[in-house]
Amino acid sequence: MGQVKLIVSNWKMNLDGKQATRLINNLLKLEKSYPNFKNIVCPQFMLIPLVSKMLKKNNIFIGSQDCHFLNDGAYTGDTSLKLLKENNCKYVIVGHSERRQYHQETDSIVRKKVEHILSNNLKPIVCVGESLNKRKSKKYEDFLKKQLENCIPGNQNHIIIAYEPVWSIGTGLVPTFSEINEIYNLTKFFLKKTKNIKDFHFLYGGSVNSKNFKEILDNTHVDGALIGGSSLNFIEMKKILTNC
Ligand code: PGA
Repeated sequence: MGQVKLIVSNWKMNLDGKQATRLINNLLKLEKSYPNFKNIVCPQFMLIPLVSKMLKKNNIFIGSQDCHFLNDGAYTGDTSLKLLKENNCKYVIVGHSERRQYHQETDSIVRKKVEHILSNNLKPIVCVGESLNKRKSKKYEDFLKKQLENCIPGNQNHIIIAYEPVWSIGTGLVPTFSEINEIYNLTKFFLKKTKNIKDFHFLYGGSVNSKNFKEILDNTHVDGALIGGSSLNFIEMKKILTNC
């Protein structure tokens, strides 16, 4: 639905300082060669100050992969939005299936984070997606509606939904165009009907690469992609950003 397409790199817990510097330097050389895309890079927390410095005064945006839902306090190991903002983060990924799986992040925690991010005028990238079991048992529609119902507050205009089927993350498996469009339509009607949200970005994530992305863009309603593995590889990113 949104006009500018978003290419969100989710580096996960990858790259050291040197590797991140090299990748960002390369990406900076591509500036202005992808007018249809907004390029957003989400490094792990410890890389954010370094990457943020490198990205001052240019058109690549920085985001984080998570945040806490409170301003500060006794929350060992967590990171506040206040510091992310100080480091120029404009976007925050929340509810990624890896956070849900390895950190027991529930819908209600995701919801608190989304509200906190919105009240700080940053943009949440909210991940939803069903497991293979849910897909096989045909219960995925109800499951996705429940995630949207629980995680998304009403009457918002800056929500970015990333549809990432868990079975497709890092596996090389990608849903068909009609499967992606089915979830886009479900999301559109559900958010409009239950949340009064008419405008949102809809990203696809899960095994996106330079070979499949153009076709996904051309054949579905997606407004961009959340990219894991391929986002670590400059050649892949160059092709995704400049050939699509
Ligand atoms: P992938 O990861 O592109 O490596 O499948 C996507 C994600 O988890 O955001």
